[in-house]
Amino acid sequence: MSQLVAENIERLIAYSPGKPIDELKRELGITDVIKLASNENPVGPSPRVLEEIERVAPEIHRYPDAAGFALKKDLSAHHDVPMEEICLGNGSNELIDLICRTFATPAEHIVFGDPSFVCYWLGATAANVPFTKVPLRDRVHWDVDALLAAVKPETKVLFVANPNNPTGTHMGASDVRRLLEELPEQVVAVLDEAYVQFADSDDYASALGMRNVRERLVVLRTFSKAYGLAALRVGYAIARPELIDFLNRVRAPFNTGAISQAAARAALADAAWMERYVEMNRVERKRVSEGLEEAGLDVAPSQANFVLADFGRPGKEVYDALLRKGVIIRPMPPPIDTMLRITIGLPEENDRMLAAVRELVR
Ligand SMILES: Cc1ncc(COP(=O)(O)O)c(C=O)c1O
Repeated sequence: MSQLVAENIERLIAYSPGKPIDELKRELGITDVIKLASNENPVGPSPRVLEEIERVAPEIHRYPDAAGFALKKDLSAHHDVPMEEICLGNGSNELIDLICRTFATPAEHIVFGDPSFVCYWLGATAANVPFTKVPLRDRVHWDVDALLAAVKPETKVLFVANPNNPTGTHMGASDVRRLLEELPEQVVAVLDEAYVQFADSDDYASALGMRNVRERLVVLRTFSKAYGLAALRVGYAIARPELIDFLNRVRAPFNTGAISQAAARAALADAAWMERYVEMNRVERKRVSEGLEEAGLDVAPSQANFVLADFGRPGKEVYDALLRKGVIIRPMPPPIDTMLRITIGLPEENDRMLAAVRELVR
């Protein structure tokens, strides 16, 4: 019999999400569990989102607007870009996959960081495109020279998460600009700004302000993080119309649902709600980072809604020990398997996590 799947599909490892709260409750028979493992918004979406969901729910027997007209119109006004420069995705995750399939072939090549968001590896591997993982400096800082050095004549796509997941660190504005300027013309540079709202460093800048620097630039955004709509799966890409046109040809029809589109519009309209969470995150991120450092851990400087802390011992041990205390965080694969990623939660959740960590390292 012929082989069921191609060799690249055989190599894939299914994405492993943060452990669900109910699963841990079942496994350990405990009721009091907090999850700081998936970089979710712990506050929840604006109440206006919930009202909007109720308003549109009676229409779910109809297909959604396949073009996402109303949401794209709002996003167009929000970012001051034409609607033709926006493509909606079923989360920005779908767009990562689409970008790999649309712009690269198995004869070409993709570059991304290591450690960085695991879905770049998944997307490249599923599309059977060879790739190079470029180590971050000291495992946590972007290294623009190393990224540029990894680019070959056949490189078609480069992914940079800024701020980066799982390190939380950012690439400074002058480095982003230099990268966009110096990358060879054929490369589609993808700046994944899933955590952009949390970045407050003086030298952080969105690549949206650098669109004049390069034609082949895609900026990815999501409603999953600051806007608190992770369950609804809405992300979007901003790029020149010719790039967006190809993404639209490859994507599945109706890739974002009607409830999701409506909820995203309501979330976008309630900026104040999102900003309150971002402010809470800023205060708590500092407090959590300092608390972990006081416990003797190295913490990467974060511009996101999570921190990466080095426990200096096998992360799986730390992870399991914290699970037993009802605290779910995220272990990491090599080369950062002594580090764990901790989402910034509500103040009381962070207190509980810090107390559990202090007990553990004592
Ligand atoms: C850097 C980065 N990009 C993209 C995503 C995907 O987000 P979503 O598919 O929910 O939009 C995530 C989620 O964790 C992320 O960390």
